[in-house]
Amino acid sequence: MTQLPFFDWSVDEYRQLAASVLRGERGSEGVAERLAEFSHLFGGHPVLPVNRGRTALRIALRAFHQERPERTEVIVPSYICPAVPESVLAVGLTPVPADVGSDLNLDPARLPGVISSSTLAVIAPHIYACPAKVPQIEAICRRSDVFMIDDAAPVMGIQIEGRGLGTFGDAGIHSFSQSKTVVAGDENAGGLLVVLNPRFEKKMRAAWAELPDPTEPIRDALGFLWDYRLRRYTRSPTYYWNRMRQRNADEAAGSKSQAKMSALTARIAAAQLRSLDRRLAQRREVVERYHELAVRTGMAAFPQYSPGRYLSRLFFSLPGGLSTSEVRARLREAGVDTRLAYPLWARAGHPESSAARAIAPRLIELPCHATTSEEVQLMWAKFSSVVREFTKPQPASPSSVARAAG
Ligand SMILES: Cc1ncc(COP(=O)(O)O)c(C=O)c1O
Repeated sequence: MTQLPFFDWSVDEYRQLAASVLRGERGSEGVAERLAEFSHLFGGHPVLPVNRGRTALRIALRAFHQERPERTEVIVPSYICPAVPESVLAVGLTPVPADVGSDLNLDPARLPGVISSSTLAVIAPHIYACPAKVPQIEAICRRSDVFMIDDAAPVMGIQIEGRGLGTFGDAGIHSFSQSKTVVAGDENAGGLLVVLNPRFEKKMRAAWAELPDPTEPIRDALGFLWDYRLRRYTRSPTYYWNRMRQRNADEAAGSKSQAKMSALTARIAAAQLRSLDRRLAQRREVVERYHELAVRTGMAAFPQYSPGRYLSRLFFSLPGGLSTSEVRARLREAGVDTRLAYPLWARAGHPESSAARAIAPRLIELPCHATTSEEVQLMWAKFSSVVREFTKPQPASPSSVARAAG
């Protein structure tokens, strides 16, 4: 049960990987054809397949900025994957925070106070696949004459008001990186830019056409399995190997690279998209199971829960005063692998980050990939026993009793 992976591949994905390796596929040939059968997920809008979600963000932002060079600010939620503000900075624009609501998504009520004459665009992500209020955000952006990116990096196949997430505003994005709904790898795992505003189609297509082919798709895929599937065995060798190779430095350089989607990624993504409905249904069951346990034991809040909702990652909010790192360390000893929330990017004390600052430090992620109901039950039993251990009133020391009496 320990160290569950952050993705769930079936035999099909491994078969596609093997086929791609055996055929020696190195470039981006055949990608558009493989993804064509899923055009209903993107409302039939044009889709540009790239190596990462952040490449899609950059192409969209550059196209907007070419049209309005005098506008240099992009509104980004104060709680979000660091790749989002980093992408804004990477194209020479300034990310401006807008605070989040209790669901951890951009709160549309904050926008009127944050949008200014310098605002070029708003990025509205569905964090951990929890649907953001994109219909309202789209209406505010239209009224305020600013562009909007519907950042559906973590989610595919979910609709609001009859429209797919990723199809609101002027451009949408998706990512196939680890912990998303469709997972094809981690480095250069694939992403999509959905062109929603036809005015930008020519510019975005031209930018996409200039991207190089991916350089090492097979190495990326095998590296992913080494890091995420075989972690239990490869953790220590990877650590020493990385130190030897200064891989962090390489990765920082690698994450800057932009390319088209590889043929290998498109094969794996297509295999997953074909079983998307089943995958969504399975995860919804895991979400319900966790929610029942959270309510029954009252050990932690589940801020993104809503009945029947799909989530790509499951975060629970610890009772106030508990140290997330201490709880995680105890859970690791008990065999439960957890992760922390994203770090906050807006400067401390920024008025548009106070809600994010109150919520994020208390969040802890419990595994949900490749997880059965029995495993959820077992994990929750361990989780609640650790939380109970930390919330148990400590016996009063003789000196504190004496102080209280005095
Ligand atoms: C909301 C959001 N946007 C964009 C990205 C960037 O996607 P990628 O890692 O494929 O570049 C991510 C994830 O990393 C994300 O969570």
